[in-house]
Amino acid sequence: MRLSVVTLFPELFEPFLATSMVGRAATGPMEVELTNLREFGLGKHRSVDDTPYGGGSGMVLRVEPLVAALESIDAKATAAGLPLAHRVLLSPQGKRFGQAKAHEIAKREHVALVCGRYEGFDERVRSFVHEELSLGDFVMTGGEVAAMAVIEATSRLLPGVLGNEESSYAESFSPALDGGLEYPQYTRPAEFRGMTVPEVLASGHHGQIEAWRREQVAARTNLRRPDLAGATERPAPARKIDVALVHHPVLDRDGGVVTTAMTNLDLHDLARSTVSYGGEALWIVHPIEAQRELAKRIQMHWVEGSGKRRIPDRATALERVRIADSLEAVYEALGGRGEIEVWTTAARAKNRAVVRYEEARARLAEPGKRVLVLFGTGWGLAPDLLDSADLRLEPIAGAKGSPYNHLSVRAACAITLDRLAG
Ligand SMILES: C[S@@+](CC[C@H](N)C(=O)[O-])C[C@H]1O[C@@H](n2cnc3c(N)ncnc32)[C@H](O)[C@@H]1O
Repeated sequence: MRLSVVTLFPELFEPFLATSMVGRAATGPMEVELTNLREFGLGKHRSVDDTPYGGGSGMVLRVEPLVAALESIDAKATAAGLPLAHRVLLSPQGKRFGQAKAHEIAKREHVALVCGRYEGFDERVRSFVHEELSLGDFVMTGGEVAAMAVIEATSRLLPGVLGNEESSYAESFSPALDGGLEYPQYTRPAEFRGMTVPEVLASGHHGQIEAWRREQVAARTNLRRPDLAGATERPAPARKIDVALVHHPVLDRDGGVVTTAMTNLDLHDLARSTVSYGGEALWIVHPIEAQRELAKRIQMHWVEGSGKRRIPDRATALERVRIADSLEAVYEALGGRGEIEVWTTAARAKNRAVVRYEEARARLAEPGKRVLVLFGTGWGLAPDLLDSADLRLEPIAGAKGSPYNHLSVRAACAITLDRLAG
């Protein structure tokens, strides 16, 4: 393709056009023709600007030199057997330049980019161009940086410039990512100042990596650019999820292993969260019979008793409560420890390897074993339980810099389920 640039400062383009990928494009599929507007200036001083009619500060680019420059570009193109240029005015008042436009420009055989200066163009110039593009809602002194941005974004889309066609194929805003933002990328080292690379990327499991990346594209785009097309639904879990609220073995404030008392509030809220996020059941795990009976009574009040008549909706959640005397009993009810994956949550990781939520979510999106997510009451699950889990979710960090981080198990459960399945 030929890119013709009209500018008062052609020298700005010279190093740019000789460097890196643009340099490679400029000696390959992209021929850049620089036209110095000054050569088309009027009179002895080759003047290209004048004061505005009606008064006001600054100078305005005159129409005659600009049109003469564009016509000279056309004449050269005709002589070379090229099509006439698609003329683009660079202006803060134009349509926002973006990746879709870069793709459109890259398909053209000949494009002219017109750079303004001073207070901009005489309005009549607009009648001689096909479109007007802006780099964004800010005003620069001239159109050269905007023209370079168009050249740079366009040139890397031309065949052969990047070497690896895939590199531009799956980038932010590309159709391959549904127009969304690219997933996070990592390279060596595997760990830097405690920051690790998501395990899934080193797993060699292409299906899981693909699922993780798809999940990341949607999550990132939703968070940062909900206006983009790629802000789509996050993939739903393909696996069944159960939740267990463990009252033993858990820690007390001094680190001792204890059994905590069951609370009405925990039972209600965890059941409601579990059902809201598509969980199979909430397991209340308690070794004390009287506490299990209490849990049963609460459940029955809402599932069959007067509670159901008052708030029928509550029965939907509490019907999914299961009561067990130990985790072993839960494992057995779910088909055996070998048939499920046990995931834990912990307020503090304490030197244990943890898995980020994005990765955990990507794992859930792939078919696999049923997952049982354990939540500890008191000061959290006992260390042996954390160690024996198949996966430990990263701690919920709270606000950056906040010295306080002590969420209730109800809040932690809701946040966790939202991140995994919301
Ligand atoms: C100082 S600006 C003129 C701004 C004009 N007076 C206005 O308010 O719309 C001078 C030239 O810089 C270029 N320019 C400035 N900001 C731009 C942007 N955001 N995108 C593209 N070109 C820009 C245009 O070529 C413009 O003619």
